[in-house]
Amino acid sequence: MQEKIDKIKQEALDRIGKAGSEEELSRLEKKYLGRKGELTQILRGLKDLSGEERKEIGQKANRIKQELDSSLNEARKRISGVSSKEEFTDVTLPGEEIERGHLNPVTLIRNELEDVFTSLGFIVMDGPELESDYYCFEALNIPKYHPARDMQDTFYIDKKNQDGEYDMVMRTHTSPVQIRGMEKYGAPIRMVVPGRAFRNEDIDACHEHTFYQIECLMVDENISIANFRDVVKEMLSGIFKQEVKVRLRPAYFPFVEPGFEVDMSCTICGGQGCPSCKNTGWLEMGGAGMVHPNVLKFGGVDPEEYSGFAFGFGMDRIAMMKFGINDIRVFNGGNLKDLQQF
Ligand code: PHE
Repeated sequence: MQEKIDKIKQEALDRIGKAGSEEELSRLEKKYLGRKGELTQILRGLKDLSGEERKEIGQKANRIKQELDSSLNEARKRISGVSSKEEFTDVTLPGEEIERGHLNPVTLIRNELEDVFTSLGFIVMDGPELESDYYCFEALNIPKYHPARDMQDTFYIDKKNQDGEYDMVMRTHTSPVQIRGMEKYGAPIRMVVPGRAFRNEDIDACHEHTFYQIECLMVDENISIANFRDVVKEMLSGIFKQEVKVRLRPAYFPFVEPGFEVDMSCTICGGQGCPSCKNTGWLEMGGAGMVHPNVLKFGGVDPEEYSGFAFGFGMDRIAMMKFGINDIRVFNGGNLKDLQQF
């Protein structure tokens, strides 16, 4: 019996060592360790042996079974090449590529605008997106309960002040920073504020609830609409590097007098009319006007001594015109297929 087992062991290890394919190994596994395998038969036959012999042969056969198992494993690794792959590092392989992000089109335009305005001697200011009712409306000459508040329906924050009134809002425009700028630096001042604003809007191709504006304020002695016209022209030629038509329409904003709305010719359709310009050939850029004396006073500036102009343009609209984007929802949409094109 002992000899028989030794012979099986020798023969099995020998053949496993020489095996050259997975199929061959499976055959050998079956031949020795399978349900009717040679070693399995011996283990099965143990019950017919006497006590002493059963113990001795049993231990030996089990040991051999383990040896065959591990030599089968080894042979499998050798054949599939796993072990060599595990141990071998090819340092010349290219590394894993790290995808490179890039700037949102609105950020690209913002950077360009900041360049244009700083070159004209303007400072770039920032202000809070969660703004007080005072800066967003009151100090801009829009008293409480004034109907002009309806022009900018917004998101009020669900928190009341001591008087039991809601007085914190997501800013509806970047104009509150006009007041903050005048309070901080006084007059004369030239400043721009690129930033986000929020409104309760019916969303479509050119309206978003979260959008981007660039506010501009210039206050000095003898500032007139001529200065405004010049700065806007400089800004547009800096961004578009081509002839862009601008038209002014009289409009009402409580913080300017006179006030107007500023349109630019639609660069997407060349003025023919398309969904982005509501088929008019013109795109509304935003509002502008000569700063209202009350607003200068709220900012601590003497309206007898100084005058100024201000405008607030949609930065996302400028980006739409510059890059030929026909839907404002692209900017905050987060769809990389859209955004990666710029
Ligand atoms: N804040 C105004 C708006 O968002 C635009 C504006 C800015 C108008 C400055 C006049 C002067 O509608």
